[in-house]
Amino acid sequence: MRETNGGGGVLVLLGSPGVGKGTQGVRLGQDLGWAHVSTGDLLRAALGERTVLGVKAGKYMDAGELVPDHLIVDLVREHLATMPAGRGVVFDGFPRTVPQAEALDRVLAGAGRTVNRVCLLEAPEEILVKRISGRRASPNGRVYNIYFDPPLRDGVCDETGEPLIHRADDHPDTVRTRLSVYREVTAPLVGFYEDRGLLARVDGEGGIEQVYGALRAAVGR
Ligand code: AP5
Repeated sequence: MRETNGGGGVLVLLGSPGVGKGTQGVRLGQDLGWAHVSTGDLLRAALGERTVLGVKAGKYMDAGELVPDHLIVDLVREHLATMPAGRGVVFDGFPRTVPQAEALDRVLAGAGRTVNRVCLLEAPEEILVKRISGRRASPNGRVYNIYFDPPLRDGVCDETGEPLIHRADDHPDTVRTRLSVYREVTAPLVGFYEDRGLLARVDGEGGIEQVYGALRAAVGR
């Protein structure tokens, strides 16, 4: 990965709901010492705190629709401003529309930075649906899967002992909407980044370790 940022790079993880962006992004961020920035996690935190943004965003999230671009771009800009300048970033779930990608370019350019690599995680839809239906999350953010990555004790976080949560937007009807929104609105980003020579395709179908190996190879570090 070419880096022009004088420190850590800027990596975007792109892919359908349930493909493993969060699972892989958290680990990649930890291993590289970079920040993992998930707009889904930031929105869920805002929703939990009942902030003005959280309440507005919650309506879109519950319906499986995208939160309007201007709210997301402001959220990301404000979040980046809290981080040390030049720190590497793994974006997860952002950008998700072409206008968001253009806004990210402008925000980064203001800091003399640029997107260095975009990794597209890919897996067939039936696998995504199974992964999403089995997902359970701890209030501390740790994500499990009852089929593929279960906790030691049913329904309880290994780290905190708290009950695991089934995300409200993981209801089957909402999942169908999220997958179709991805196909219609987010998939065009593949061409956007391919045209810029930044896109690497990563096979996201195998187990968590196998996908992580493929991702590290695509990141080139
Ligand atoms: P967000 O939270 O970003 O959801 P998403 O993109 O739909 O992605 P997911 O979190 O469902 O999946 P993931 O790819 O992270 O998979 P995970 O690693 O958890 O967004 C939620 C909502 O917020 C959106 O619908 C929208 O409303 C709003 N939003 C967020 N960002 C926005 C933006 N930029 N613009 C507008 N609106 C925005 O894995 C899934 C499960 O599979 C887990 O249980 C995991 O343990 C398991 N798993 C992962 N990898 C594997 C593997 N290789 N093998 C077996 N199991 C695996």
